Amino acid sequence: MRQYENLVRTIADQILKGDVAVGSKLPSERATAQKFVVSRSTVRRAWRELESLGYVTWSNQSTPVVVRPLESTLRAERSPVGRLAETLSPTFLGDLMQAAVSSARYNFEIGMPDPELLPVQDFQQILRELFSYPSREVFGYSPTLGLERARRAISEEFLTRRGVSMSPNNILVTAGSLQGLNLLTRLWVRPGDVILTESPTFAGALHIFRSHGAQILGIPIDASGINVDILESLTLGKNPRFLYIQPVGQNPTGVTLSPERRLKLLHWAQKSHIPIVEDDAYGFLSDQPNPPLAADRRQIPLVYLNTFSKILAPGIRVGFLAAPADLIRQLVALKQLSDLHTGTLSQLVAEGWLRQGRVDTHIQRARTIYKGRLKLATRLIKQVTRLTPFAEPDHGFYLFAKLPPGQMAQSLHAKAAQRDVLFAPGNPFSPDGQLFGNWIRLAVGAQPSAQIETGLRRLGRLLDDVTDGSSGSPRRTIKLLRS
Ligand SMILES: Cc1ncc(COP(=O)(O)O)c(C=O)c1O
Repeated sequence: MRQYENLVRTIADQILKGDVAVGSKLPSERATAQKFVVSRSTVRRAWRELESLGYVTWSNQSTPVVVRPLESTLRAERSPVGRLAETLSPTFLGDLMQAAVSSARYNFEIGMPDPELLPVQDFQQILRELFSYPSREVFGYSPTLGLERARRAISEEFLTRRGVSMSPNNILVTAGSLQGLNLLTRLWVRPGDVILTESPTFAGALHIFRSHGAQILGIPIDASGINVDILESLTLGKNPRFLYIQPVGQNPTGVTLSPERRLKLLHWAQKSHIPIVEDDAYGFLSDQPNPPLAADRRQIPLVYLNTFSKILAPGIRVGFLAAPADLIRQLVALKQLSDLHTGTLSQLVAEGWLRQGRVDTHIQRARTIYKGRLKLATRLIKQVTRLTPFAEPDHGFYLFAKLPPGQMAQSLHAKAAQRDVLFAPGNPFSPDGQLFGNWIRLAVGAQPSAQIETGLRRLGRLLDDVTDGSSGSPRRTIKLLRS
């Protein structure tokens, strides 16, 4: 760093810390030059810079006077959300979004559809048609609730395929389903309120809940989904605000709630009156009749979230929330404050896709391809790595797997990245932030079979390299005998 830059930083720090009060003069040019052993022209240059950064005013003839620095005025720490934001780790979601554009060859970090499956020709045709509409209808503002035609298409072409009957009036179109979850949490949750989740669960949801100051109580899951018996006993006397759950193809484990557990959970909801927030992001990827909880006809308090991000394209940022009309009205008021409405063009693209008549073919193809990739990855994980899978899901994008003893995901992540392999470390999926440090999530959906094979072999070799040779595992023994 150059001398004057050093000086700028030192003086700016003093001002920010309050060591030099707003309204007072800085020490003279000569005193500053002597103190920092720099020339007087360096001092003047630093003053000019401090003025342009808004720390001082300086007339050139006199000594600069300290003004309220812009930087401290712009800091958000005075609001509770600002303070929480400082304690949250924004890096996980940030890293994940960065991974979406990474050029790593074996990218198992982010869960998104294979871009090769994007129905490009359908999109081209939809966009061509949209350009023939009056531009106001495509590029203008639109209602906060969502375009009527988009909500109608979601009701008729999306929700009915999931067995859910919901009027367009009960649907709020959001900028991705994560926005819906954020709006709902903002409306329902005060700092200190308890939210129930599966453990592990989607890190983005946990991030939102924490940002609102919620206490998160994780309920263990196994290969059949959430443990409803524990749910009942753990929540006694806790007055939780809601249960956030992904019943089908859960992120990060790929687990789907078994029919028996599903029934038990529905009974629990009926009895407890604790609202369920159902995130059905991966529901379409199941080829089994795994209807969402929202398809059940009994009366339970439930809000349903879904998205076009996993079945079509995450970049269009279209999701939705389905709920009773009163709640939708309140959420609309909040969404207005956030972004006025979801992108008009994006909504029309989503609607166009739902109406063009090839939704079932697309879904069927996606299911088959992802299922094959999951199967391959599950077999390889057992054959060529020392990982232990949490479950063996047959739909969705994800495998969640435990590292060999002594390994931690965070440090392995950096080493794997050096070998062009990316995965998501498990800890951010922990409701209390304490668990799953020795687990990783592999999103295999978007990777062709050849990449899965090579990537997992690379990961396997890395684990061999970093694992203590004395572990005596069968794979190690075979390797030693061969060498
Ligand atoms: C369970 C779950 N819900 C919601 C989302 C976010 O979806 P969107 O892109 O619609 O905000 C994700 C993305 O990974 C997810 O895994």
